[in-house]
Amino acid sequence: MWITLTGFMGSGKSSVARQLGADLGLPVVDLDAHIARQAGCSIAEIFAVEGEAEFRRRECAALEALDPRQELILDPGGGVIESGRARTSIVRGVVFWLDVRWDQVRSRLRGPEANRRPLVARLGWERLEALYHRRQRLYAQVADFRIASQDAGPSETARRVSLRLRSWQKAHRPQTERQGSDS
Ligand code: S3P
Repeated sequence: MWITLTGFMGSGKSSVARQLGADLGLPVVDLDAHIARQAGCSIAEIFAVEGEAEFRRRECAALEALDPRQELILDPGGGVIESGRARTSIVRGVVFWLDVRWDQVRSRLRGPEANRRPLVARLGWERLEALYHRRQRLYAQVADFRIASQDAGPSETARRVSLRLRSWQKAHRPQTERQGSDS
């Protein structure tokens, strides 16, 4: 089963995914890195040369090529919820939304990594903020859990995810297994 972390750019998905993978002993799939490897160029280059629609197509194809039964931590880009096809793939597992307030996202996106995010350069702050607010509804729609994470670093956020995950797994264990261990 996939344990997916969603949230806007700068919400800390990748650091939390790495921490969670180490804590739970599960592999982490960084979907952007996977797409870039397959394409043989960076995400910024895919946006510049092929356009965003082609990037979204690559994103969906990469998700659909993963085994849905494999236990893994999935770290997709923040725009994965833009496509209904990608949403269908991720909701098969359990989805955590790392929700960070806009003011904090904005200050994180101003950092040294800003150049690797094509939408930050292309949209500018006003349109990026509009995108953030539009996507909040989509993150809420796909998430099993919303983790408010603006006040916490990666290890504390990973701890909060693990706690929720444990109760979710307990509630979703097959009936036969539950009878065996709860009696
Ligand atoms: C995107 C987010 C990026 C990356 C691409 C598009 C988006 O990933 O997939 O630049 O549309 O929000 P991060 O959320 O890891 O920055």
